[in-house]
Amino acid sequence: IFASRQYQRESFEQAPMYVAVMTYLGFGIVTLFGYLRDFLRAVGLEKCHLAQERDEQKDFVPLYQDFENFYTRNLYMRVRDNWNRPVCSLPGPVFDLMERVSDDYNWTFRFTGRTIHNAINMGSYNYLGFAENNADFLKTVADITHQYGVGVCSTRQEIGNLSIHEELEELVASFLGVESTMTFGMGFATNSMNIPALVGKGCLILSDELNHTSLILGARLSGATIRVFKHNNMHSLEKMLREAVCSGQPRTHRPWKKILIMVEGIYSMEGSVVQLPEIVALKKKYKAYLYLDEAHSIGAVGASGRGVTELFDVNPADVDVMMGTFTKSFGAAGGYIAGKKELVDYLRSHSHSAVYASAMSPPVTEQIIRAMKCILGKDGGREGIRRIRQLAENTRYFRARLKEMGFIIYGNDDSPVVPILLYMPGKVAAFAREMLERKIGVVVVGFPATPISEARARFCLSAAHTRAMLDQVHTHTHTHTHRLHCSLRKAVTERTFFFFFLF
Ligand SMILES: Cc1ncc(COP(=O)(O)O)c(C=O)c1O
Repeated sequence: IFASRQYQRESFEQAPMYVAVMTYLGFGIVTLFGYLRDFLRAVGLEKCHLAQERDEQKDFVPLYQDFENFYTRNLYMRVRDNWNRPVCSLPGPVFDLMERVSDDYNWTFRFTGRTIHNAINMGSYNYLGFAENNADFLKTVADITHQYGVGVCSTRQEIGNLSIHEELEELVASFLGVESTMTFGMGFATNSMNIPALVGKGCLILSDELNHTSLILGARLSGATIRVFKHNNMHSLEKMLREAVCSGQPRTHRPWKKILIMVEGIYSMEGSVVQLPEIVALKKKYKAYLYLDEAHSIGAVGASGRGVTELFDVNPADVDVMMGTFTKSFGAAGGYIAGKKELVDYLRSHSHSAVYASAMSPPVTEQIIRAMKCILGKDGGREGIRRIRQLAENTRYFRARLKEMGFIIYGNDDSPVVPILLYMPGKVAAFAREMLERKIGVVVVGFPATPISEARARFCLSAAHTRAMLDQVHTHTHTHTHRLHCSLRKAVTERTFFFFFLF
């Protein structure tokens, strides 16, 4: 009952018809102009800045002929200034950005030498505010750096195994309520290098369609057969499980050696939360294994930050492989795999990232230990639990106000990732630029990271955001998008409609 109640708190409202029409119209117009400009480039009337085949290669199959390349050249290039902005400070609740301008319509950029100071940071995954540089908080990290230095210069299996690595692993295991844990120096590699150690040829992976690229890479490297089910859709998953169990492997119809369901705790583009209890029930029913990536949910949800198992009151022992990263809620780097002792011992000797990759850097290890001790109250204070509650409060407040203002936002009420739908290509760029003018740094996301008609801005909340900061973001989001609507109406009445889309 609790699970379905949680899921009801998730919303993916469809765009109103006129917005959908305008969005496609906008794309249609810029696409037409794209073809026109490609034609002008082909006949030499417009300079082409992109890499091209040499004259002697002209009769080869073109290197650049897919839609993504057309999209990059003609659509993304117009709005490219809103991505990859160089940040030159800590990714705290406020941050500094290096100002840059383009003299050739975003083909290249030039730094002006000025810095945009103290912009509100709505883009970092600093959920609990542990990305901080307060010297008192970082005292133990500084001490460890003095003691061990920064690099380990060896793998865990050789001479890179330090006592603080073991201390961290015990702490993570007790935090998660599992038998054992192994930590790795990189979150991405935790997925991509461990999945191949767990499954291989003759195994089946059932993967959520919105899984992170590190999971996808791991699945591909494993050599297992991969089937993709619809995002968080239990009917789609069960259908595939049933089919897999009934029919077995293609041609031979032998049973699959293993079936592994791969999901995430919180999906970072949708702000949705996995339907964990239902998935656990399905995996038990069909005797499959479950791999849960908690990169965005560990520390960020659950009454004491223990992630989606705590949020749904699911026994961690029901999740066969628990994975998470330390890059987000812990303000550090690296990842972990947690579960039964046999599983972790097996990975210690078989995982490529245990055998061939350098061990986690000591100061990074200490940063995770200090953050986790703070969350667990083992530092003797209540700051950790205060931050968890603050994040939950900020999340509820921020989402509720945006809904009141009439915005379409995606995801679960408990998710600190808040996608706000902008739809129209012109609006995406205008929103990011105008917000930065008002000293608010936002992440905007469009195709190919989202479906073409679902471009959005994605706010990431932090316990370190103050109410005043959130109010400022609300106010500017509201006034700015309102202004955009007015200019759209004005454009329609003044028949400058076309130019609106071309900004
Ligand atoms: C779901 C998920 N898994 C794994 C990773 C990789 O983690 P890291 O950035 O710590 O290498 C990310 C990164 O964003 C992620 O979102």
